Amino acid sequence: MSITIFGIESSCDDTSAAVIRDGVMLSNSIAGQAVHEAYGGVVPELASRAHQQNIIPVVTEAIKKAGIDRTELSGIAFTRGPGLMGSLLVGTSFAKGLSASLGIPMVEVNHLQAHVLAHFIKETPEDTNQPSFPFLCLLVSGGNSQIILVKGYDDMEVIGQTIDDAAGEAFDKCAKVMGLGYPGGPVVNRLANEGNPKAFRFSKPHIPGYNYSFSGLKTSFLYTLRDRLKEDADFIEKNKADLCASLQATVIDILMDKLRKAAKDLNIKEVAVAGGVSANTGLRDAFEDHAKRFGWKIHIPKFAFTTDNAAMVAITGYYKFLKGEYCGMDAVPFSRVIL
Ligand code: KG4
Repeated sequence: MSITIFGIESSCDDTSAAVIRDGVMLSNSIAGQAVHEAYGGVVPELASRAHQQNIIPVVTEAIKKAGIDRTELSGIAFTRGPGLMGSLLVGTSFAKGLSASLGIPMVEVNHLQAHVLAHFIKETPEDTNQPSFPFLCLLVSGGNSQIILVKGYDDMEVIGQTIDDAAGEAFDKCAKVMGLGYPGGPVVNRLANEGNPKAFRFSKPHIPGYNYSFSGLKTSFLYTLRDRLKEDADFIEKNKADLCASLQATVIDILMDKLRKAAKDLNIKEVAVAGGVSANTGLRDAFEDHAKRFGWKIHIPKFAFTTDNAAMVAITGYYKFLKGEYCGMDAVPFSRVIL
């Protein structure tokens, strides 16, 4: 008998719903929230209000696009955390209502685990390009920079993580001081393609193990701007592309140095990347380069699965559902946690 899972994601500023049947994606609908652009970052109160407005249309669209009737659903998977509390409450409450009205079980999903398991979403039944265990996953987003040893669908160990800012935050904060808007990561990426990555040197951290740090890079970037602006008030404008290319190259070097070390120490050659920053084309190129140089088998998500989406929640819920790991109506969201 087929297992059909409905996924709901509302952890930050994307409202998303998806249907996965036997591991194969039937639909994945997403509504973003442009309202935050004017504020230079996500405003939690506005995010929860927008989720409340978006959730019914997004859910309706996901069911329609999947071409199923909601009575065909076997279970509801929802993001329980981490994320913004008000945003999570919208998805969690909706999941409870749907589960109660259809009389089907609910499965709670950890958002970070879902980013990793996005690599297991099949777009067709013939799609067999999933990673095999164990593999390493570099999870890089606006809130996280982690190296995860993935031993099974529900067996993941964080072996390294940032001790301060996340990689996406480094992109966003440096972009903000250059006046590039929010989120800055994609803009930096676009400008970096036209710049010289060796034009400027920014500091890299020296911390032991597989942990990351990006606050030193951010400070070094700020000091460079401060000093150069004293000499030339148009410094940023004249050097935007080179600044972006050099910043991006430094972030990628920091990320790849530790990942390469982990892969070597653990003798693992299967390596994946996930999270919003995995959309970065420079990082994707670095993965391709490492595949050639070190014989890595790499897994790079499609752009649609790099940002927050419910298909990754549904696939995670699917594997938990198979093991009977349901949750009750007493499940409440959590805002902070690591894997
Ligand atoms: O995973 P995600 O969508 O959301 C959360 O962190 O909640 O990641 C968003 C982060 C932002 O910091 C954004 O600037 C960054 O991903 N990002 C990028 C690119 N696209 C998104 N960073 C660098 N290059 C990109 N192309």
